[in-house]
Amino acid sequence: MGPVISDNITLENYLADAENASPENQSQIAQVVGVVGKILKRIYKSVQRASLAGLTGDTGAINIQGEEVQKLDEFANQTFVDVFKQAGIIGYIISEEMNEVVRLDCREGSENYLLTVDPLDGSSNIDVNVTIGSIFGLYKLDNTDWSDIREALQPGNKLIASGYSLYGSALDFVFWMRGSTVNGFVYDIDGGEFILAYPDIKIPTESRIYSVNAANYEFWDKPTQKVVDYLRTGRKESTTRYVGSLVADFHRSLLKGGVYLYPAHDGAPCGKIRLLYEAAPLAKLITEAGGGATTGREKILDIAPTAPHQRCPTILGSAKVVAEIERIYRENN
Ligand code: AHG
Ligand code: MN
Ligand code: MN
Repeated sequence: MGPVISDNITLENYLADAENASPENQSQIAQVVGVVGKILKRIYKSVQRASLAGLTGDTGAINIQGEEVQKLDEFANQTFVDVFKQAGIIGYIISEEMNEVVRLDCREGSENYLLTVDPLDGSSNIDVNVTIGSIFGLYKLDNTDWSDIREALQPGNKLIASGYSLYGSALDFVFWMRGSTVNGFVYDIDGGEFILAYPDIKIPTESRIYSVNAANYEFWDKPTQKVVDYLRTGRKESTTRYVGSLVADFHRSLLKGGVYLYPAHDGAPCGKIRLLYEAAPLAKLITEAGGGATTGREKILDIAPTAPHQRCPTILGSAKVVAEIERIYRENN
């Protein structure tokens, strides 16, 4: 399905309508999504100017993941923190780029809202002008009566909103929030607003496209090798696309059908993708769009997190393909 361009449904209008339809719960969620939209525009501007503004390359720091922090990772992270600090509508933020959960000053009643964020996904692609993006998830904690955030973390099926952006040939913002479907907005540079272009996204149930870093093949366990053998040769007309930015591979899979895999491998028993701000938000979104999300052995949305930066093997894609992958794991364990 191609985009349906609507002149009059801006992100602002869309969020106002959602608030009116269900004012008691929706207002805070819509406000958070609105602020995320504002942040995405800001980051996109910097992405576009990165190579001219000295924003390419790394900062010299290593983050909690043991990965080099790129200048744009830091900028994007700071933008999320600063803008949400000012907005006062969430109590906590967990980010890929911050070791600890950060408590934000907020207005009364907002303390329970936890935002999880991968400020910039696909960092290795920043310096070569390949699509990157941001991912967010929004949770409402049951209480704030805990001494360690680990006691309060919730599985992905408790998310109340999640989404991602793409800083590519266009700025896209795709999200889902409680009570509504998955929708994709495209930034109109002339008008300075997000316009609804992909309403009510549903992922095709079948597809021949798969995305995986096959260089890890010999380090995968046998069932995972069988899964990828099946995707590669077990079906007619199969084809690979692998960008190395989860958001980009995910977005193509969502619109055209397909499956993205980052399985565990020797040396990375849980793979690479982080549960709270990568796997779970995208798992929730793709599930709402009719797709599947699994580690191969369990549903990603059922995993109860025990640490802010934990990882999980990640398989996201078309429902029938994901079901087949789960079957292969079941039968080969
Ligand atoms: P990040 O840039 O936020 O650290 O995430 C990178 C992730 C993901 O975007 C991508 O699919 C994957 O790393 C690529 O990893 P490989 O280079 O190991 O294939
Ligand atoms: Mn990432
Ligand atoms: Mn990142």
